[in-house]
Amino acid sequence: MKIYRTAVVGCGALAQAMHLPNIRQNPRTRLAVTCDISRDAAAGCKEKFGAERFETDWRKVAEADDIDVIVLATHTNLRGELIIPALLAGKPVYTEKPLSIHRQEMVDIVKTSRETGVPVCVGHNRRSSPAMLEFKRLLSKAESGMIPPDASVDRRAGRKPIPEEGQMQILMRINDDARSWKEWIFWDEEGIMFAEMVHFIDLALWMNKGYPVKLYAEGSCRGNFTLIMRFNDGSITTLVHTMVGNFEYPKELFEATSNNITVAMDQHVEVRQMGLADELALSVFPYAKESSWAAETGMTGYIHTIEQEQKAAQRERRAPRPLIVDKGHYRHLDRFLDFLEGRGENPCDVESAVPVNRIAAKFLESARLGTPVAVGPEDWHLPQMK
Ligand SMILES: NC(=O)c1ccc[n+]([C@@H]2O[C@H](COP(=O)([O-])OP(=O)(O)OC[C@H]3O[C@@H](n4cnc5c(N)ncnc54)[C@H](O)[C@@H]3O)[C@@H](O)[C@H]2O)c1
Repeated sequence: MKIYRTAVVGCGALAQAMHLPNIRQNPRTRLAVTCDISRDAAAGCKEKFGAERFETDWRKVAEADDIDVIVLATHTNLRGELIIPALLAGKPVYTEKPLSIHRQEMVDIVKTSRETGVPVCVGHNRRSSPAMLEFKRLLSKAESGMIPPDASVDRRAGRKPIPEEGQMQILMRINDDARSWKEWIFWDEEGIMFAEMVHFIDLALWMNKGYPVKLYAEGSCRGNFTLIMRFNDGSITTLVHTMVGNFEYPKELFEATSNNITVAMDQHVEVRQMGLADELALSVFPYAKESSWAAETGMTGYIHTIEQEQKAAQRERRAPRPLIVDKGHYRHLDRFLDFLEGRGENPCDVESAVPVNRIAAKFLESARLGTPVAVGPEDWHLPQMK
């Protein structure tokens, strides 16, 4: 088994919650270097997560001989400047989302990756959530034109299908809590609409068969907005974001409908469907390893667990333990390592992340203009060489 000497650049909240523990836990990775412009963060994470050494200058990480792969977990302030030299030095990079707000920076990364043949994986980790993968599998089956069992109500007699019946409708509801965000997000002019919605725009592009033709954003880019994406086949994906929700309540609900089949994914712990007669109507998925203390599973179990944990914490005068669901962080990096060894595909190659960021930027434009905006091939397509 190949062991990847891994460097983490940017040792902030996400790296400490996900990447550093995951790298320590994964037998395929060894934490070679922690790097942060804050010496305290770099040195503190070296001690806490058992790295071999730490750095405060990311340039040295790109050049170093004792590193096989880099995990970049800073904000978008550091992307091309590190990724391009790393690729030129033969080091694959797993970069956090968003890839970039700047088109040229993304193009330069894509071109360097193509020229060197060294890959980049973008941290749209929900593509590796077990519940999301099941949701996607069922949705693909629904789209493939399966005939659902007879409906209890069917009033189609005497009419042929109308074109709208061939479209797909997706609703993504994000129940967010402004209290859970660090302050920078509210100073950032791109706000949650860009920094966080790239996850969900990526999923919309991943799930729809067509290409987007029109976008509309209503609301503030800092939070509390609705995003509508229309595709060339008439399908619509709607993302509803609220920042005045409660953090303890389940955050993510996806409902997709196609060919009279309804598929739902709730908080990465439950997938439900009606209309695929040969599939389970309900499947439940385990929490992330950190929350293996929770006994009850599924959505009812999730709500019960939160309620009981809050009561216990109050009784015992301690903070309640967070209930962490498996959004695919561990698996996403692991799948990238598989890909580096020639097994499976890159779970999110950098080329597919460019349209996501272009579309997120167009949503900002729509919110500022207060009107829908058109999307063209230059937004979702990259030229290929012969
Ligand atoms: N995939 C996910 O689920 C998920 C979740 C949260 C955040 N994120 C993404 O992860 C990134 C980091 O978010 P965060 O919440 O951890 O932010 P954070 O502010 O807590 O951490 C960022 C860290 O990067 C360091 N840093 C900044 N510039 C640097 C440089 N040039 N060299 C080295 N270190 C540098 C900072 O000192 C800080 O420690 C963001 O892009 C965010 O969108 C992804």
